[in-house]
Amino acid sequence: MSADALANRLAKNVKSRRAWAAREGVTAFRLYDLDMPEWPVAIDSYANVIHVIAYPNRKQLKAGVEALTAQVREACITGLGVTADDVIVKVHEPKAWGETPFEKSRGATRLVTVEEYGRKFECNLTDFLDTGLFLDHRPTRKRVGLEASGKRFLNLFAYTGAFTVHALGGGASATTTVDLSNTYCAWAERNFALNGFKADPRHRVIRDDVLAWIGHDRGEYDLIVVDPPSFSASKKMGRRFEVQRDHAWLIQRCVDRLAIGGTLYFSNNFLEFELDDALTPAEELKSTPTDFRRQLHRCWRFVK
Ligand SMILES: C[S@@+](CC[C@H](N)C(=O)[O-])C[C@H]1O[C@@H](n2cnc3c(N)ncnc32)[C@H](O)[C@@H]1O
Repeated sequence: MSADALANRLAKNVKSRRAWAAREGVTAFRLYDLDMPEWPVAIDSYANVIHVIAYPNRKQLKAGVEALTAQVREACITGLGVTADDVIVKVHEPKAWGETPFEKSRGATRLVTVEEYGRKFECNLTDFLDTGLFLDHRPTRKRVGLEASGKRFLNLFAYTGAFTVHALGGGASATTTVDLSNTYCAWAERNFALNGFKADPRHRVIRDDVLAWIGHDRGEYDLIVVDPPSFSASKKMGRRFEVQRDHAWLIQRCVDRLAIGGTLYFSNNFLEFELDDALTPAEELKSTPTDFRRQLHRCWRFVK
C-alpha cells in the first residue's frame, strides 16, 4: 500500500497543528491519531522531532512490521518536511500480559526538552515506549497548575512528576510525589531541576508502592492527583492491583487524606473502565485535548 495518503494527511494537518501549538504554548503535540484505519499509528511532534508508535493490525504483522515502519517513516519525511534523523518509529507489539510490548533499540538515546504552558519536561524518545510525558493529560496538568497556589499537593503513580511540575509552577506550598520506580523518581527530580525548583524538604519525592504507602501516610493534602495504571504487578508489591476492582478502595484512602474542601482528580486509561456506583464525583472532566482524536483516559473530580 502506498503511503501517499498518510503523507498527504500529515501535510494537511501539520500547518494548522503547529500554529495551534504555538498559540497554546506547547512544543509537544499530536499530529495524527490513528485517523485512517489502514494507517494505525499515533504521530507526535516533540520539539520538532517526530515520535511515532505503530499499532500494526493482523495483516501488517503478518507482512512484517518493517514494511509498515519504513512506509510511515517515508510519509513523515515527505508530509512533515523533516529529515530521517528526526523521525523515531516504535512498534507496539501485542504481547502476553505482563510482557513488555516494546524492546529498546540499540541506537543512541535521544533526549529532548519540550515546553508546556511555561514549564519544561525532559522527554526520552528512544528508550521506552512512552516518552516521559503523557500528552493526553495536558489539560488536566494545566488545571492543576492553575489550582495549586498555596496548596499541599499529592501526586500518586507520579511517573516523571509532570503533574507536580505544574503544581510547583502554580505555587503549591508543599508537594509529595510517589512512584514505585527509581528510574521515574529520578526523572521527576530532573524535571523539577529543569524548571528551577531546588531540593527542598517541603517537596518530597518518595519511591514506594502507593498501595502500601497510602495505608500508613498520615499527611493532609488540599489537591491530589491519582492516575494509576490499569494493572500493576510488582515483586515489591504484596498483591496485584487492578484498577477496575481496586479503584473505589484507592479513592477512599485518598479522600481520607484530603482536607475538607480539598480536590481529588482520579484518572485512568483502562478501556472498559466503569466508576463504582457508590462513588460520588463532582463531575467527569472533558479532559481530552483538541489535538487528540481518540479519548485515551477518563478523569473525575471529587471534592471533600
Ligand atoms: C499511568 S502511569 C502514571 C502517569 C502519570 N500520572 C502522568 O500523567 O505523568 C503509571 C505509573 O505508575 C507507577 N506504578 C505502577 N504501580 C505502582 C505502585 N504500586 N505504586 C507506585 N507507583 C506505581 C509506574 O512506575 C508508572 O510511573
